[in-house]
Amino acid sequence: MSPRPLLSLAVLIPLAAFTAGCGPSLPPSKPLAQLSPVERQGYDIYQTRCAGCHYAESQSSLHGPGLQGLYKKRFLPSGAPANDDRVTDAIRNGRALMPPFRNNLDDSDLNALLAYLHTL
Ligand code: HEC
Repeated sequence: MSPRPLLSLAVLIPLAAFTAGCGPSLPPSKPLAQLSPVERQGYDIYQTRCAGCHYAESQSSLHGPGLQGLYKKRFLPSGAPANDDRVTDAIRNGRALMPPFRNNLDDSDLNALLAYLHTL
């Protein structure tokens, strides 16, 4: 028997399982207890600056869109690509009803915050 059919099954079965799992729920966020020191610093900033308007543990809207899985999707709620450039831009300059944070967060705060957002 040629190894080919077996090989394609070995590829297709996990692929099908993966695709079936791709509903609205994304892979879980990194548990708080496992955050690195920088991610933990970002978490603290998030609690102070962002949590009043954004859920971190869900995609449901509060005042702004829920941010769970922010970087696990291709696009941000606005339709911009989900990358550090676009997220930094939203944080620095604000958007519609979201205030700008360029005067409240320095570069190290911003980096820590992005590190935390990547764990969501
Ligand atoms: C006063 C409420 C408020 C606060 C505080 C706030 N946001 Fe927002 N945020 C919003 C709203 C409203 C939107 C949707 C804006 C729009 O319609 O484009 C938004 C959008 C976003 C987006 C999506 C941008 C996009 O391109 O889709 C990100 C990411 C985000 N906020 C992150 C943050 C982070 C991180 C913080 C903390 C530094 C924060 N927000 C603080 C209200 C807020």
